Amino acid sequence: MSKVVRVAVTGAAGQVSYSMLARLASGEVFGPNTHVILQLLEIPRSVNPKAMDALEGVAMELEDCAFPTLKEIKVTDDPLQAFDGANWVLLVGAAPRGPGMERKDLLTKNGQIFVGQGKALAARAASDVRILIVGNPCNTNCLVAYHNGKDIPAERWTAMTRLDHNRAVSALAVKSGVTNDAVTCMTIWGNHSNTQYPDFTNAKINGKPATEVITDRKWLETSFVPQCQERGKAIINKRGLSSAFSAGNGALDHVKSLLKPTPANDWVSMATVSKGEYGVPKGLVFGYPCKTDGAGNYSIVEGLQLDAFGKTKWDLTLKELLEEQDAVKELLPS
Ligand code: NAD
Ligand code: LMR
Repeated sequence: MSKVVRVAVTGAAGQVSYSMLARLASGEVFGPNTHVILQLLEIPRSVNPKAMDALEGVAMELEDCAFPTLKEIKVTDDPLQAFDGANWVLLVGAAPRGPGMERKDLLTKNGQIFVGQGKALAARAASDVRILIVGNPCNTNCLVAYHNGKDIPAERWTAMTRLDHNRAVSALAVKSGVTNDAVTCMTIWGNHSNTQYPDFTNAKINGKPATEVITDRKWLETSFVPQCQERGKAIINKRGLSSAFSAGNGALDHVKSLLKPTPANDWVSMATVSKGEYGVPKGLVFGYPCKTDGAGNYSIVEGLQLDAFGKTKWDLTLKELLEEQDAVKELLPS
């Protein structure tokens, strides 16, 4: 093996992590010539007597896969140990919402987690660390973690809108009777919440504007957009639990996209710490269209236009993120 990569995952005994860890260890994400060291964090036995036991069971399963690419598994309840020297960090550990809740209802319960983890990351992570926040509400949790871990450059912190991106691609593919790979240039603007704007106006199907292939504008505005916005809730209503393997898949797609240059005729959705692109206030974690260079870096696709419908939706998602920022202001160091 030519390389070793340390990957920290929090909430490692939870259902999203359970769907992700074997894939992370297997070579699928970092390739067949990279050894992976998994650094897995759960909450202490004093808080939940079962979590560390469950994590130890997950570690046993990982051992039993005998992946040639898996070098070591560390399990811990200490964020400083979990993040020590980590090159990639997936912050999944946080309570999920249940039926009848919005993701922002989790802010008070989950926001605090990201104060300590932001600080621990700044203290211990590798100098090249890349961090993805999955735990909800992920944009604002990312904002909290970034503001508490500011020794790590802003561009290393991202939150996950890739699940929404994949949902939107799939919905357009089903409607137009094409395969998923024919849908490109999808953007999830703004928040991973029911105000997100899945932008069908800039998307393409077989290289043509999606609005030329799907000419039923009413369906796009009144079925497609709300379906994407409320998909997480629809899954909770059916399963009684929030999405798990599709979420883990979205997180791995996000990391894989950072490790592979985006094709010239496409882009991906990521929520990033805004540098003011498209007029978003600096520092807010906002979902954008992104291009990647394959070395862990992204740039925002500039110059996309929105029509009046899209602009209205875009303003709503920005407004919600500003409200969420206000709700956690005591967690943000001045
Ligand atoms: P889960 O309850 O199955 O697992 C969460 C795990 O996190 C638990 O094992 C818990 O003990 C652990 N945990 C809690 N606080 C922790 C902390 N401070 N440090 C380390 N571990 C901690 O939940 P899940 O279904 O795996 O979902 C995890 C999170 O991901 C939720 O917040 C959920 O809403 C979110 N999620 C986000 C997306 C997205 O698209 N961004 C998609 C799906 C799920
Ligand atoms: C999702 O979109 O499936 C997740 O964010 C879980 C949720 O609460 O909807």
